[in-house]
Amino acid sequence: MNNFKNDFPIFKNSKTIYLDSAATTQKPQAVLSAVESYYKTSNANPHRGAYKLSVEATEQLNKARHEVAEFVWAERDEEIVFTKNATEAFNLLAYSYGLDNLKEGDEVILSIMEHHSNLVPWQKVCKIKKANLKYLYINSNFEIPDEELEKITSKTKIVSVALVSNVLGTINNVEKIVKKAHKVGAVVIVDLSQSVAHMPFNASKMGVDFAVFSSHKMYGPMGVGVLYGKYRLLNSMSPFLMGGDMIEFVYEQDATFALPPNKFEAGTQNVAGAVGLSKAIEYIKDIGYDKIKEHEDELIRYSTEKLKKLDFVELYATNNANNHTAVVSFNVKGVHPHDVATILDFNNVCIRSGNHCAQPLLRFLNLDSTCRISFGIYNTKEDVDKLIEALKIVYEKFKKYIK
Ligand code: ALA
Repeated sequence: MNNFKNDFPIFKNSKTIYLDSAATTQKPQAVLSAVESYYKTSNANPHRGAYKLSVEATEQLNKARHEVAEFVWAERDEEIVFTKNATEAFNLLAYSYGLDNLKEGDEVILSIMEHHSNLVPWQKVCKIKKANLKYLYINSNFEIPDEELEKITSKTKIVSVALVSNVLGTINNVEKIVKKAHKVGAVVIVDLSQSVAHMPFNASKMGVDFAVFSSHKMYGPMGVGVLYGKYRLLNSMSPFLMGGDMIEFVYEQDATFALPPNKFEAGTQNVAGAVGLSKAIEYIKDIGYDKIKEHEDELIRYSTEKLKKLDFVELYATNNANNHTAVVSFNVKGVHPHDVATILDFNNVCIRSGNHCAQPLLRFLNLDSTCRISFGIYNTKEDVDKLIEALKIVYEKFKKYIK
């Protein structure tokens, strides 16, 4: 197994076993250097200055947009909107597309696996428009069965689902959802937040109308996210945030707006973030998704096998390895996940515990919270061994209380 840890300064001379990449990935030196170099040599406000340095900042922003467009196989660079994060991109879609297109009695369909960022904005907009929010539920194998897709009908106007669940690691069959949704004239939004570090996304091939992801979950900096949208749709939508750089003409009482993507990028853009994101894309491309998949599939296989051997552990994962990536949720029977995470931390193992911003899913599974491990390219089988050793320590400490 390759060891990519050397690419990441945070692991240098450190005992940290980082198993929380679904929350945020660590950053390779190449990304850190790109951000630093932008600020050291090219920093100015893009689109606003006639001087060379501002033109240089604008060019760096345009170049980053082009890299992202190629990365997701967009038809043109103007289909890429930079946001603050995936959450802001979902709010943009709910307020701009949702408010403009939903009417009373229409339906918005989500999966029960959605992160709150792809759920709470739709609740708000559905309430305003008197539209109904419906869910695709999962079966006992933690997957959406085909029958659930029958809920997509002529009343459906928007279907918004994650490609990969941030709690279960289940890979959803988005192609099937797109086919069904497009047949009834609904648009499809896909949340790539948990897939983008692990598997490619081809907008043209998958045929989705919009896609959303965050740079910080794919080895890039925090504070920059991406909305991909078909140009025709972006062009038809009202702007979300108002202010500088998103306008055409401004009068005392009214304004006209710029074309996409500028229409959706009010205020000074996070150029350094975009530059860092494009370096992260380069980092992923240099390794290659095939190699990433091989490395991480091996970690999933190894960790689930080891966890299954611990009879004090309950696992929540599909048994279909082809539909599972990068995330494993489990509980130590009778021990609260926050206690598990705290004891693991005493042993230098970082995991996430809680409801993972997916309360409706946890409620559906009849759980309060889980422990969650999630992998990045830097993890190794030794990291999994350290986790398993630490879980045995948890069990030893708590077994007298476990009935
Ligand atoms: N969405 C992030 C997670 O699942 C924060 O941990």
